[in-house]
Amino acid sequence: MTLLFSLRDYADRDFDAIVELDRECFEPGIAYPPPEMRRLLSLVTREGVIAESAETIAGFCLGYRAPRGTGRIITLDVRADHRRSGVGRSLLEETIRRLREAGAGETVLEVDLRNASAIAFYERLGFHRRRTIPGYYGPDRPGIEMSRESAGP
Ligand SMILES: CC(C)(COP(=O)(O)OP(=O)(O)OC[C@H]1O[C@@H](n2cnc3c(N)ncnc32)[C@H](O)[C@@H]1OP(=O)(O)O)[C@@H](O)C(=O)NCCC(=O)NCCS
Repeated sequence: MTLLFSLRDYADRDFDAIVELDRECFEPGIAYPPPEMRRLLSLVTREGVIAESAETIAGFCLGYRAPRGTGRIITLDVRADHRRSGVGRSLLEETIRRLREAGAGETVLEVDLRNASAIAFYERLGFHRRRTIPGYYGPDRPGIEMSRESAGP
């Protein structure tokens, strides 16, 4: 069945819902604690995009423009029962589009080496594995840095 959803800007009223969704998507220690989420949302170059379906938050994506014209994806979270319907792709592409408009020629992100589905998703969207970062998610828990030209493959 096709999922109908629309994208909009993140608003302060979404804060509790996105913290909760982040907790559903990531285990304790990986999900952002509320103070850290607030800090990330306060970054001056932050872009926050919400996907909404029938007045429910189906997913969200946060990114920011780092120095030297790099766009960085902080997190991308899609509600489990809304996956494989294009929500993640739409959220990521819209966030990258905004960062690109703000001057980010490339987009970089980190993902847990164990998160095979997310790695497959990012590769499908044209991201390449750039390097392994030992201990990024904890002891014996490496991350992979992935990147893409913001304009797409
Ligand atoms: C990774 C994630 C964001 C993908 O969101 P999504 O809305 O399901 O993705 P889409 O429907 O837009 O998928 C686009 C394409 O990516 C690929 N893809 C998506 N999920 C995949 C999976 N589990 N396994 C393999 N390929 C996958 C497919 O090619 C898919 O196209 P298709 O459905 O037509 O085959 C979502 O699974 C999620 O929120 N996971 C938990 C949090 C997380 O890991 N976030 C990313 C790390 S920061």
